[in-house]
Amino acid sequence: MVTSRIVELGPDDDLFPAWCEVWTAAQRAERPDDPPRQAGDHAALGRELLAGGSRSGTHRALVVDGAVVGALRLIFTLRDNTGVATLDLAVHPGHRRRGLGSRLLSEAGRLAAARGRTSMIADVDEPVPDNPGRAFALRHGWTCDLLETRRDLLLPPDEERLAALEAEAAVAGAEYELVTWRDRTPDHLLDDRALLWRRMTTDAPQGDLPVEEEDWDGGRIREWEANSLARDRTVLSAGALRDGRLVAFTDLHVPLAQPERAQQSGTLVLGEHRGHRLGARMKAAVLRDLAAAFPQVRRITTYNSEGNRPMVAVNEALGFRPAGQLSCWSTRL
Ligand SMILES: CC(C)(COP(=O)(O)OP(=O)(O)OC[C@H]1O[C@@H](n2cnc3c(N)ncnc32)[C@H](O)[C@@H]1OP(=O)(O)O)[C@@H](O)C(=O)NCCC(=O)NCCS
Repeated sequence: MVTSRIVELGPDDDLFPAWCEVWTAAQRAERPDDPPRQAGDHAALGRELLAGGSRSGTHRALVVDGAVVGALRLIFTLRDNTGVATLDLAVHPGHRRRGLGSRLLSEAGRLAAARGRTSMIADVDEPVPDNPGRAFALRHGWTCDLLETRRDLLLPPDEERLAALEAEAAVAGAEYELVTWRDRTPDHLLDDRALLWRRMTTDAPQGDLPVEEEDWDGGRIREWEANSLARDRTVLSAGALRDGRLVAFTDLHVPLAQPERAQQSGTLVLGEHRGHRLGARMKAAVLRDLAAAFPQVRRITTYNSEGNRPMVAVNEALGFRPAGQLSCWSTRL
């Protein structure tokens, strides 16, 4: 007789490596060309969620006949968006279509409601149409609130294209000073950066996702920086200054254990400073830093809503090309 159970676990438990293996197998099935997320990254995130900072979380494994075949992680932000739980869920490709994903999902709903959350959100990576994650979300009545296109830039970038862009952007933004840093925002720019991060959650398209402005201050930025380092990531950043104030930034993450693939994350220019090609100029500066410090990076991945035409235009000018989509879903509890 088949026995199955759902088990709570943490990053230091014996089952945790097998729990990480479920993600690895799922990622290999979806995107065989991408290096799967490393177990060390899952463990570091797990420790962050247990540490009692600005977010917490919980993990469950679905165990069938002694083997972990399903994995669930729920994240709860504590300073804002306290009605929302973020869901990550995967079932090993060899055990799908047997109701296991649905079982974990119903456990997730129960756990999230017990924490006072009234909705759950989740991302589905869709390298190709007809993705299992999409079919599963639709089957469970979730709504797709935001669609982003993934774009990849193969490195090294085209030198002529990059130099032309830099020259244009330097003229258009001549009144702004460009600065770069790595991993730790300079103290005197910390408060400005916190404001930019608040704006990321109001100015960047969020579609119909049930999310509100995030509550960032200097302390939370420092916490985030420490967590990135603990997850063995280095963050290369560039910013633009006007009258000594930081009015724009961009971040690029390099996972040090698998540096062939970097992630472009947030980029934002404050509304009143747009139109000076600061986005292109900062991204070009980070590409230069990256080439000098991490020549082993082969590819950068970024995600943009198609409605965000200025950002998409910058990325296309840099040579980013579409590589599937990321859909963002929600459900009410
Ligand atoms: C999405 C995922 C968790 C589903 O796990 P699962 O154990 O196969 O899910 P279930 O067996 O409970 O499926 C429930 C229903 O979802 C739908 N569904 C799930 N996978 C599907 C697929 N590949 N094609 C069409 N429908 C699918 C079906 O309606 C299914 O019911 P049925 O089998 O009776 O037809 C799994 O495919 C996975 O790990 N994908 C990668 C990670 C991911 O996308 N996570 C989703 C985050 S919301």
